Amino acid sequence: MTIIRVALEQRSYDIVIEEGALDRAGDHLVRHARNGRLVVVTDSNVAAAQLPRLEASLRAADVAIEAIILPPGEQTKSWRPLECLLDALLALEIERGDHIVALGGGVIGDLVGFAASILKRGCHFIQLPTTLLAQVDSSVGGKTAINTGAGKNLVGSFHQPSLVLIDPSTLDSLPPREVRAGYAEVVKYGLIDDAAFFGWCEREGHRLLAGESEAREYAIARSVAAKAAIVADDERETTGRRALLNLGHTFGHALEADTGFSDRLLHGEGVAAGMALAFRYSARLGLCPADDAARVTAHVKAVGLPHDLASARVEADGAGLVAHMLHDKKMAGGTLPFLLARGIGKTFLSKDVALADVAAFLDEDRAKAVPA
Ligand code: NAD
Ligand code: GLY
Repeated sequence: MTIIRVALEQRSYDIVIEEGALDRAGDHLVRHARNGRLVVVTDSNVAAAQLPRLEASLRAADVAIEAIILPPGEQTKSWRPLECLLDALLALEIERGDHIVALGGGVIGDLVGFAASILKRGCHFIQLPTTLLAQVDSSVGGKTAINTGAGKNLVGSFHQPSLVLIDPSTLDSLPPREVRAGYAEVVKYGLIDDAAFFGWCEREGHRLLAGESEAREYAIARSVAAKAAIVADDERETTGRRALLNLGHTFGHALEADTGFSDRLLHGEGVAAGMALAFRYSARLGLCPADDAARVTAHVKAVGLPHDLASARVEADGAGLVAHMLHDKKMAGGTLPFLLARGIGKTFLSKDVALADVAAFLDEDRAKAVPA
């Protein structure tokens, strides 16, 4: 078992990582159950694959469970499901001091976190993340949000969970494509500021992807420790340190927008291609050694993640993709802060990227990928 503390004064909490933790969740959660009851919110895929384990462990700890089961998918992170969830929680007479349990991927975690932050002016919540993406990224750090017609994650709050309980064995039922997409966020921590961890990914990442428990727990713990340190340092993304976690996301969001935020390109797949593009763009600007950009591209490609516009199945040209970037919520005063790199493990925030130049790069990059 690994326990990592997110140090945020009175909002501090533990992240517990343990193979099989879901079967012992009752021991961890019993103290958060008012009158011996907990409300668990999940989606129907996770309910089928993992909820029985949680129910059994809560029953063994004499905790009654009320489950709210929502439809799976990104569209669950929107106004109408939020309203339905709030109504269901009110009908179950959730009180302000109560804890709501989010069992699922980033969609459930983001939605439940937001609901908890506004219900009765603030309830507590506990994250039991069941996708690799949620285990290494979204369950930690307290960003909550829903999507609106105007874009992704535009309405939300910072609301830290009281506990994050990570059971890597829940990934056994996750489709391999989802595991790979989450792996992009693991690689991201190496690329941001931990070149040795990127080296580990190159050597051992295939073991994580194959479901080897030792590799899985190691990578999750190392990723979570990196995120916890960044969040403790810059909880609300005001100093620029937390913004480093957006490596690959500006390119990635444009690719996701072009593919309609659909199953054609999962979020992590967009991030994977986005990180490879960010490194190649940094190399083109003369900031980053070309060899480092080639290593990033090769690793992303080797694990079967998209590494360029063609493999991401993106049709738009550079200008079209840059047009998507103009709607990015990070746009400030007409400029878009961009994560670039001076090498592997040397990511930095640049505020003077010219979007016309990014468009030209994207067209060049696509042309280079086409065999002569
Ligand atoms: P997701 O929650 O939609 O889960 C992916 C799919 O896997 C869903 O169909 C789900 O039902 C299924 N699933 C989940 N766990 C399973 C399991 N153990 N077994 C079988 N099926 C399972 O997607 P995600 O990739 O986890 O999260 C994406 C969301 O996370 C996006 O909305 C993104 O904006 C958000 N996000 C938030 C943050 C943050 O800091 N809050 C960070 C990154 C991403
Ligand atoms: N996933 C980005 C963040 O938590 O800040």
